[in-house]
Amino acid sequence: MIIVVIGAQWGDEGKGKIVDLLAERFDIVARYQGGHNAGHSVYVGDRAFVLRLLPSGIVHEDKICVLGNGMVIDPKAFFEEADQLAEQGVRVTPERVRVSSRAHLILPYHRALDHTSEERLGNERVGTTLRGIGPAYEDKAGRRGIRVADALVPDVLRSRIERNLEDANRIILAYNGEALDADQIFDEISRLAERLAPFITDTTNFINKAARDGRSILIEGAQATLLDVDHGTYPFVTSSSTTAGGASIGLGLAPQRLTGVLGIVRTYTTRVGEGPFPTEMLEGEEELGQLIRERGREYGAVTRRPRRCGWFDAFATRYAAEINGFSSVALTKLDVLDALDEIKVCTGYRLDGREIDYFPAVSQDLRRIEPIYEKFPGWKSSTEGITEMDALPAEARSYVEFLSSAIGVEIGLISTGPERGQTIVCKDSTLARWLVD
Ligand code: GDP
Ligand code: IMO
Ligand code: MG
Repeated sequence: MIIVVIGAQWGDEGKGKIVDLLAERFDIVARYQGGHNAGHSVYVGDRAFVLRLLPSGIVHEDKICVLGNGMVIDPKAFFEEADQLAEQGVRVTPERVRVSSRAHLILPYHRALDHTSEERLGNERVGTTLRGIGPAYEDKAGRRGIRVADALVPDVLRSRIERNLEDANRIILAYNGEALDADQIFDEISRLAERLAPFITDTTNFINKAARDGRSILIEGAQATLLDVDHGTYPFVTSSSTTAGGASIGLGLAPQRLTGVLGIVRTYTTRVGEGPFPTEMLEGEEELGQLIRERGREYGAVTRRPRRCGWFDAFATRYAAEINGFSSVALTKLDVLDALDEIKVCTGYRLDGREIDYFPAVSQDLRRIEPIYEKFPGWKSSTEGITEMDALPAEARSYVEFLSSAIGVEIGLISTGPERGQTIVCKDSTLARWLVD
């Protein structure tokens, strides 16, 4: 069984919690895109983890974790995370962590270029995590990138760093930054590459062999559908293919190998960084936005930035369901809505006074969308930690049923708190079958 887990909105839907929960049932947990721009939180008892580069399966002692070819890896961030996990009693060893030889490296000049790029954009800036993600993917597409395997060949590493840094420094200097030194970068990366060497694997070969041997694989998406470089709210997106098709590319695993796709959907929407957000709580709803932000602790796991909050957008989520082919949905953070008197759901988009049946390609259009809302009564009682569907207040049950019909996908799981146990698995769902198969 091979299942892909994908965020349906703009990220931070609770992928970490769900992946950690499902990981129990799988042999291997793999990431296929992105880098340490991700922040996936996992709570186990009184221990809290934030996974950035490593798959959330790492918290389970006996799981093998794969960092696929589609990722961009900052080796310094990799070891910072590994050391932090070690302090928390989690072993990050070459036996259980495999880093693709084909993944691309994030180097110090990528971070510097991320800063200058945002500065150049001014008001049009993306609001990136400044981790160097975009510039590393630019080098990959521009065929100048340095792959993990290249770092083990000193001549190749040195000449590529020298060549790429020449260009990078021109841009950095033009924007009043400080030029970086090729020797210093080479020394730093060579040292880190030596430490990384035992983790480096032909993960394409590794994962295909595992699939042939019938081992189960859980594939963990980072970022989310509306941040996909093709299908998201371009240009306010990340630089990778976050959607289900990306899982095939980013691991070298044929599409027909995939058993199913699980969408992670929050009961409301958030967005960090810039870009259009049709259901954002703005004029007249700031207080509500603040309430959700506090109740849902909506502050970036990586950057600590306050997340913008908005109503559930069923129209955008239906688009996500189509692109990814969700077989089932895990609905997270039901408990955060416990305090609301009334809950709104966007069921359609109006542009220039006319209802549209497609998700706009152009950000300027997305900014002008008038959402069509339906209203639901709140339940005004605690759902925190509930584990049975029958124990939910009737209003909460009908809200969940409505979301399922509005996005056209079953809800296989409902999350009622950050911990593993605070979960309802919906009986007879596709997701429930995956868990017992
Ligand atoms: P990810 O990036 O998709 O993994 O999500 P993040 O970890 O960045 O943000 C989700 C936050 O919500 C984390 O702090 C989770 O612990 C928390 N969380 C997940 N599910 C629930 C839930 O059902 N209820 C509440 N209250 N918090 C949740
Ligand atoms: P997880 O996996 C939410 C956003 C950034 C910015 C845009 C581009 O935790 O859901 P980048 O640094 O990737 O070039 O930034 O994407 N972004 C995220 N937003 N959750 C994430 O990850 C994100 N990773 C990137 O805020 O708007
Ligand atoms: Mg996150």
